[in-house]
Amino acid sequence: MCGIVGYIGKSQAAPIILDGLEKLEYRGYDSAGIAVYDGQQINMKKSVGRLKALVELTHGGAMMPGNLGIGHTRWATHGAPTDVNSHPHLNSKETIAVVHNGIIENYIKLRKKLENKGYLFVSETDTEVLAHLLDYYYKGNPLEAITKVMHRVEGSYALGVIFAEHPDRIFAVRKASPLIVGKSDEGCFIASDVPAILKYTRNVYFMENQEVACLKADELTFYSVDEEVIQKEPVTIEWDAKAAEKGGYEHYMLKEMYEQPKVLEETIRKCIIDDDIIIEELKMSEEDFRKISKIYIVACGSSYHAGVTGKYVIENIARVPVEVDLASEFRYRNPIIDENALVIVISQSGETADSLAAMADMHAKGVKVMGIVNVVGSSIARDADYIMYTWAGPEIAVATTKAYSAQLMALYLFAMKLGKAKSVLAQEEFRQMLEDMKLLPQQVEFLLSNQRKIQKFANRYIAAKSIFFIGRGIDYAISLEGSLKLKEISYIHSEAYAAGELKHGTISLIEDGTLVACVSTQEDLYQKTISNMVEVKARGAFVLAVTNEGNYEMQKEADYVIYIPKTNRYFTNTLAIIPLQLFGYYVAVGKGCDVDKPRNLAKSVTVE
Ligand code: M6R
Repeated sequence: MCGIVGYIGKSQAAPIILDGLEKLEYRGYDSAGIAVYDGQQINMKKSVGRLKALVELTHGGAMMPGNLGIGHTRWATHGAPTDVNSHPHLNSKETIAVVHNGIIENYIKLRKKLENKGYLFVSETDTEVLAHLLDYYYKGNPLEAITKVMHRVEGSYALGVIFAEHPDRIFAVRKASPLIVGKSDEGCFIASDVPAILKYTRNVYFMENQEVACLKADELTFYSVDEEVIQKEPVTIEWDAKAAEKGGYEHYMLKEMYEQPKVLEETIRKCIIDDDIIIEELKMSEEDFRKISKIYIVACGSSYHAGVTGKYVIENIARVPVEVDLASEFRYRNPIIDENALVIVISQSGETADSLAAMADMHAKGVKVMGIVNVVGSSIARDADYIMYTWAGPEIAVATTKAYSAQLMALYLFAMKLGKAKSVLAQEEFRQMLEDMKLLPQQVEFLLSNQRKIQKFANRYIAAKSIFFIGRGIDYAISLEGSLKLKEISYIHSEAYAAGELKHGTISLIEDGTLVACVSTQEDLYQKTISNMVEVKARGAFVLAVTNEGNYEMQKEADYVIYIPKTNRYFTNTLAIIPLQLFGYYVAVGKGCDVDKPRNLAKSVTVE
């Protein structure tokens, strides 16, 4: 999704803005632009393609003097990725510049009205409407013009706005699209995500819907849409700025995969205390746990896949029924939710529009929502009734790895607490699970150390047309994630199937040499899964099996076997995902794909 960075302060703005935009590259974009006020006028530069082109065009920002500016990376929605459609957008007099994330839903109507009043449009974007509408309402008071625009436009927006007539301030505006404001001794910043400004400040203000911020070099004021001053408290971001950098790895994704042992250790350190599970931020009493009659897990993409694992674990160890839904579907299916049900929304970013909308819908119906979120202070984290954080640190690569692993950990911990509160999980089993959990970091480390073998295997599949992933029960959940990892970064068609379902149609796609990755970690299901492997082998498939150490039977049927260390049956996904992540990564690298920035994808999907 698009990225916004703005700066006003003692230093030259352009290099800071370009540096911030670089940190947001992971969000996905197809053009970039910057506008800086040089003391007399607003200067603007834009470039289609990679940010590097804009950096070269402006000599790293050096040729754009001025201490106040806004920049943008655009992910085209309205109009093709061209220079003219790139942000910032200007009014015709070139005295107002706007950058925008989100979608203005009534832009066609507004554009017609403005055109009838003589305004000339140069782009196909919805954003240009904002520049002209601001011009229309601007009568010398920028805040008044902005709030009038807020009353007129429908949709979602995070905006950065500068006015040539007010060169001592930047405005930041938010409705349903994330935007943060930061402050340091050097100046004030706006950004659509924390990593963009982490190098400069840790004092961050999360803007709420319908708020406006006025940033001066050494002063920050927040207003409501009615122009009333609002008091806001900053949040101190604890993330290490280095954690958002590549640190010598070829890709963020690789670095983040290798951070997984540390992430699991951090979760254990924070949440397992004296042989018990303490989730400090989750203000849920034993009684609250006991009362839960049903759980709905709602999420998108990999977070949804973590939820599918969560369903198996919660239902088995706490005996509470769980439904898992894609957030984009959940709110439209009018679910029947009783008063003791709990909705769990899982999201790495905490800003996914579909998940936020599902959560708002639940709140409107009076249902309590718990968030499992990685980004402290994000919209889902703030709006949820209960919160559990995942301790993955900043995740930059579009393809999630460490945040997904952290979500699995959060779900295991939640399930165990629930099982204990409901007196379904016996103390001895609970204790054993804690012990097994403590071994996970070193087991993940071991699996990562086999990277060379997997790379060699992956290289054989860079020209594959289609790859299938199958598994039963909890192994089906991991197949979904393994398949997504592969296809989102390598562009190879892939599907995940419940192993027993393949024969009901999809098996007709198996050709000579088609790779079928078969995950089989549940002892009671070994034989059933082996039958499904035999079925695909008989149709010419090459079978890769991922199974538990000791299950040497598998070697007789599979063509290639990857063993995972022995662990508790409910934790196997944490281990089985590692070779699948590595496989997807190395296939994509072998194909020469842009692993960290796969085509058409964005890290944080802030539109529905
Ligand atoms: O930030 P969220 O966890 O809410 O994001 C959900 C999905 O967009 C995300 O998991 C996506 O599927 C990733 N690209 C998967 O690698």
